[in-house]
Amino acid sequence: MRKKIVAGNWKMNKTLEEARTLTAEVMGMVADEVKGNAITILCVPFPYLVPLKNQLGNSSVKIGAQNCSEHDSGAYTGEVSALMLKSIDIPYVILGHSERRLYFGEDAKLLAKKVDKALAASLTPIFCCGEPLEIREAGTHEKLVKQQIEEALFHLSAEALQKIVIAYEPVWAIGTGKTATSQQAQEMHAVIRKHLASKYGAGVAETISILYGGSVKADNAKELFACPDVDGGLVGGASLKSREFVDIVKTM
Ligand code: 13P
Repeated sequence: MRKKIVAGNWKMNKTLEEARTLTAEVMGMVADEVKGNAITILCVPFPYLVPLKNQLGNSSVKIGAQNCSEHDSGAYTGEVSALMLKSIDIPYVILGHSERRLYFGEDAKLLAKKVDKALAASLTPIFCCGEPLEIREAGTHEKLVKQQIEEALFHLSAEALQKIVIAYEPVWAIGTGKTATSQQAQEMHAVIRKHLASKYGAGVAETISILYGGSVKADNAKELFACPDVDGGLVGGASLKSREFVDIVKTM
């Protein structure tokens, strides 16, 4: 069975003190209120990885980073490698978020390298794909998303691919309050799964968790997560409020 996952992407938010408070609240509420087998992950800014990992201890809430370098080490000022994340026991890393593609010029070739580095360091990449508004309006969104997946992931073996989590995040739905309808999400998730099946076979494609991201809130999560090919969510703004985030986790 595919893993059900709700991951919070805090992006560049919170001071350490605020981050500790949010973590304590999420941890407490998840322990008290959430039953079942959904995996909860907090993807936090680099400086907070170690303190928050220590704070989480053996809680069921896991921690992740939001990016890693395509290099192992060397003269790359400001960068953080997958090996460094491994050395501090970080299990997850978001790769290819649309904000990284847009503001930091990350392209498919670079992302393929980052995916390789993350996997080599035994991290689980949460690989993001998704189309901007003009592509959706032009009706070429399926083509673009298939291409994003193909170019960054199709060099992997079936075994390696099965270690990846995919997040479909339509750019027009990120931080806009305008979420994809459950029908739009299901359609694209099914397209992604079919595309994975065309290369790796249906058996492999069926094991890959595909998360939806883009203005997920407690009040729309239930309908989105009920779609057969939606295996959870990657949550931005709503993950910054403990009650809202845990309510999303609970809908899994
Ligand atoms: P919002 O939930 O704020 O729309 O952000 C989604 C996102 O970018 C998660 O990675």
